[in-house]
Amino acid sequence: MMQEKVDTILKEISDSKASDADQLEAYRLKFISKKSVIGELFGELKNVPNDQKKEVGQQLNRLKSAAQEKFKELINEVDSSKHVESSGHADLTLPDGGTELGSMHPLNYVRFKIIEIFERIGFNVADGPEVEDDWHNFTALNFPENHPAREMQDTFFIERNPDVLLRTHTSNVQVRLMEKQKPPIRSIMPGRVFRNEAISARAHCVFHQVEGLYIDKNVSFVDLKHTLYHFAKEMFGKDTKVRYRPSYFPFTEPSAEIDISCQICHGDGCQLCKYTGWVEIAGSGMVDPNVLSNCDIDPEEFTGFAFGMGIERITQLKFRVDDLRLYTENDIRFLKQFRSLH
Ligand code: DAH
Repeated sequence: MMQEKVDTILKEISDSKASDADQLEAYRLKFISKKSVIGELFGELKNVPNDQKKEVGQQLNRLKSAAQEKFKELINEVDSSKHVESSGHADLTLPDGGTELGSMHPLNYVRFKIIEIFERIGFNVADGPEVEDDWHNFTALNFPENHPAREMQDTFFIERNPDVLLRTHTSNVQVRLMEKQKPPIRSIMPGRVFRNEAISARAHCVFHQVEGLYIDKNVSFVDLKHTLYHFAKEMFGKDTKVRYRPSYFPFTEPSAEIDISCQICHGDGCQLCKYTGWVEIAGSGMVDPNVLSNCDIDPEEFTGFAFGMGIERITQLKFRVDDLRLYTENDIRFLKQFRSLH
């Protein structure tokens, strides 16, 4: 008798289904609660003859566990069907909140622009190491033995004697190029450079330069002047004025610094140009014969010009960025202002 009842209930349990909270509650009342069919059977236990009590009791306990197991399963099913149900009702016409597109970093934009301008007039792009030896960063470039640029406060040394250092300018690539390639050479060399300086609005220990080198027969100062004149107009606009100021670099003779008319006040005088109307954009000069000789190029046969400019500086002038730290801080409010660049 009892056995039959247990079997029937077991079958009912295993056939039970629940797809919502009401059906779950119905199951609970029928099989789990005190007044459930199983509860009733426990009530009948007292009528079972003593010698069968133990066995029937065990049967009922197994039935109770089976009912509880099934209850857990049903709860899980109803829970997960809830999720399906809610995504089933999602409004697919709603906007998705938008995908943020990244944008070009201003320094990359300016680097690409510089490359583009020089490539169009026949320069190619060359690359060199950031970790450099003394020869390529200083000695081959005609730096005197005790030149201040070699001192500790400027240069990050990795090892001393022989010196291994982080290049302080991209001019090292000039030397590497001339050592492995004979003229004609017409290259620009963009890259990272390092100087041991405290970080402030106007100085950084890591920044970027673009070096330029043109070596061939009969290259003259006129070529230098006109090449950078062309660059300034392409980069900053046709109305930009350009001037050359005598200067000194160990690796060029004669040397000149290149100024353009101030992009902010257009020559009237402002804080950026220190009321001169002019701002510096590059250093340049005719490659010193000593440098050519150091690289096994005959200075009697070949001449050339070189120049070097800071990418941060060009970007500052083009976009009026007045604090160098903005370039590396990843402040989204700064970067978003360059969204239209491509
Ligand atoms: N290397 C120089 C610097 O870091 C810049 C420079 C000046 C490069 C004159 C040149 C040059 O090639 O001719 O300040």
